[in-house]
Amino acid sequence: MNQRIFSGVQPTGNLHLGNYLGAIRNWVKLQDDYECLFCVVDLHAITVWQEPEKLRQSTRDVAAALIAAGVDPKEQIIFNQSQVPGHAELAWIFNCVARMGWLGRMTQFKEKAGKDRENASVGLFAYPSLMAADILLYKGTHVPVGEDQKQHLELARDIAQKFNNDFKTETFPIPEPLILGTSTRVMSLKDGTKKMSKSDPSDLSRINMTDDADTIARKIKKAKTDPDLLPDTVQGLDGRPEARNLLGIYATLAETTVDQAVQTFAGQQFSALKTELSDVAVANLAPIQDEYRRLLADKGHVDSVLADGAERARTMAEPVLREVQDVIGFLRVKLSRKPT
Ligand code: AMP
Ligand code: TRP
Repeated sequence: MNQRIFSGVQPTGNLHLGNYLGAIRNWVKLQDDYECLFCVVDLHAITVWQEPEKLRQSTRDVAAALIAAGVDPKEQIIFNQSQVPGHAELAWIFNCVARMGWLGRMTQFKEKAGKDRENASVGLFAYPSLMAADILLYKGTHVPVGEDQKQHLELARDIAQKFNNDFKTETFPIPEPLILGTSTRVMSLKDGTKKMSKSDPSDLSRINMTDDADTIARKIKKAKTDPDLLPDTVQGLDGRPEARNLLGIYATLAETTVDQAVQTFAGQQFSALKTELSDVAVANLAPIQDEYRRLLADKGHVDSVLADGAERARTMAEPVLREVQDVIGFLRVKLSRKPT
C-alpha cells in the first residue's frame, strides 16, 4: 500500500511555536520519506466566525510560513481546502456515516462551543467529518498532528472503518496518527497546564512565528516559573508544569532529549535556562522569518503555489470521488460540457 501523508493547519491568525514544533517542523522532516499533501484548512476555519479579509490574508500567511519552514512546494502539494470541492463533497457523505453520539463526545467541540451549545454552528459539530474527508479524499495513510488532534483522528479511523463495513468495500485505508518528537504539546508561557494557542487573549502566552528576536527574548523572560531551582532528574519535573514546558521546548529546539536538557541545567536557576532558550529559539526562527518576509513580498508567488497545489490535489481526488460515488450507488451521468 502506498504511504501518503495528509495534514492540515487552520488559517486563523498567527502561527506559533506550538504549531511549529508540534506540526510543521515534523512535516518538513517527513517530506523526504513520504508523498505529502499539506492543506490550509479554510473550510475548518469558518466553523467559527472569520473576517473575510483576514481569512484571505491568513491563508496566504500560513502557506508562506509552510514554505519558509522548509516544505518544498514542488515536491509536495500545498493548497487551500476550499479550492478543492471534493473536501466538502466527501464531508457530506461522511456526515451520513458518522453518528451523532461519536461527534458529541469530541472534547474540542465541547471546549469551543462552551456553555452556549445551541448557538454553535452546525459546522463546528461536524468539524471531524470534514477532517476525515480531508485525509480520505486522497486515501491518506499517515497523519502527523499534535496530541490535541488525536481524538479527531480516532474518529476519522472510525468513519473509514464504518464506511468500508457498511458498503463491504476496502475503499479507504485506516489512517494512522504520527505524533512525533518531544514537543507534541507545547504549553502556554503563562500557564504550564494550558496549551499554547492562537486563541489565548494574552500574546505573552505564546511565541509567534513572526515575533522578532527582542520580543522572543522578552516573552521568555516573562514566562511563568516556580520558586525552586531546576531539578537534576526528569522525575523532578513532576508537578512542575512550567519547568517541564520550558525544558521540553529547549530540548526540541536544541535537538536533544529532555533527559539531556535536565542534566545541562540541573540545580541552576530558571534564568540560565531562559537565556539559552531565547538564543536557541531565535537561532531556529530567524532564518524562517527572513524567508517568510521574502515570500510575502513577492506578490503573487504564494497564490501561484496554492493554485498549482489545488490543481494537483483535484487530479488526485477525482478517481477517489468517482469510486465513492459508485460504491454508494449514486447514478453517475455523463456530462457533455466539462464543469468549470
Ligand atoms: P491549529 O492551529 O489548531 O490548526 O493546529 C495546527 C497543528 O498544530 C495541529 O497539528 C496541532 O496539533 C498543532 N498544534 C497546535 N497547537 C499546539 C501546541 N500547543 N503544541 C503542539 N502542537 C500544537
Ligand atoms: N483539525 C486540525 C487542527 O485544528 C487541522 C486539520 C484539518 C487537520 N484537517 C486535517 C489535521 C486533516 C490533520 C489532517 O489542528
